[in-house]
Amino acid sequence: MLRYLTAGESHGPALTAIVEGFPSGVAIDKTFIDRELERRQGGYGRGKRQKLETDRVIIDSGTFHGVSTGAPITLRLINNDAKLERLAEPASPRGGHIDLAGSINYQTGIRQVLERASARETALRVAVGALARLLLRAVGIEVFGYVSELGGIAAPPLSRDLSVRDASPVYTLNPEADVAIVAAIDAAQKAGDTLGGVVEAVVTGCPMGLGSHVQYDRKLDARLAAAVMSIQAIKAVEIGLGVEAARRPGSKVMDPIQFDPDHAEDDRRFGFRRPTNNAGGIEGGTSNGEPIVVRAFKKPISTLAARGPSVNMATKSPTPASYERSDVCAVPAASVIVENVVAFEIASALVEKYVGTSLEAVQAALAAIHTLNRQHLASWGEEQASG
Ligand SMILES: Cc1cc2nc3c(=O)[nH]c(=O)nc-3n(C[C@H](O)[C@H](O)[C@H](O)COP(=O)(O)O)c2cc1C
Repeated sequence: MLRYLTAGESHGPALTAIVEGFPSGVAIDKTFIDRELERRQGGYGRGKRQKLETDRVIIDSGTFHGVSTGAPITLRLINNDAKLERLAEPASPRGGHIDLAGSINYQTGIRQVLERASARETALRVAVGALARLLLRAVGIEVFGYVSELGGIAAPPLSRDLSVRDASPVYTLNPEADVAIVAAIDAAQKAGDTLGGVVEAVVTGCPMGLGSHVQYDRKLDARLAAAVMSIQAIKAVEIGLGVEAARRPGSKVMDPIQFDPDHAEDDRRFGFRRPTNNAGGIEGGTSNGEPIVVRAFKKPISTLAARGPSVNMATKSPTPASYERSDVCAVPAASVIVENVVAFEIASALVEKYVGTSLEAVQAALAAIHTLNRQHLASWGEEQASG
């Protein structure tokens, strides 16, 4: 079982994650993890905090000469802006945040709960996901994420070329939309307002058979949705066609099944092909060999420079909500977070299915199960005939 826990406050000394169940034998490319962390810090519309931090992962355990050992891997990020004990208690809770419900739930002040609820924690989730991607890469699975809408401005992908996304100030695959999006972020900032948006993550090279239909908590779509929904400010998750499927007749939703004998040796799909991918690569809680498509909807930042209405916690009289230094738009960052969170869930399903104490064990199990699946397909007619 591949799992992790995170710890740390937004302005505490450091953030820490412990990743357990990561197979041995994976070369740990720290530069790749750091590049993902850097991307999370970027994107047009971020606040001052990102200029103060330079996230670089420190790996404290679980590797030997740069290769994973199978022991728990500790990932640590230092907070340059560590000042937790010096920060004041906010007088009035902010709507859209943990401030009110959390301080009552834990019988503490607002500061204690907002520091842990902060999306600073997502830096660790990116580091953990990037680590997982090193394992995925070793078995031919890749994940990429991008922004498909921001502030209500659609940015449908014009290409799948990642250099386009990496050149975009807002991480889209649509340079034409970028101009309008950047202008919208500028306008929101001027008005003391904030913007949300939609991001998409696509997993390619995933074999048929990750997840399962037999139990609710083993369904891959359910696991992905829970993981993505747990990201701060994500308010909805779609797989494939998502909510649009509810509006169409079945004939416009179901993906036809075809067989191409020239690709029968393909280890991912065994020659089965789908001309459309409305299912987003998952049917019955199980990957079907098509690209897995996960879409996440991020609300706008709740902390407004033009402070929203609230009440003073001591007097209960109306007062503007407290202001914490904030982003105007963190949708580009959310695309990096979703991409890496999705990667972790896929890696976790992979390790679970292929009982992976080591990379070699995962690779051997993958090969063995592919052989078994091919034999099963070849003997299909006989099995049916014999009842
Ligand atoms: C990358 C990222 C950056 C964020 N930055 C801020 C921010 O600067 N200010 C803010 O008020 N909320 C920010 N948020 C959103 C809050 O963390 C989130 O809304 C809050 O913790 C309440 O959680 P909920 O919206 O999931 O209910 C950010 C979220 C993400 C994903």
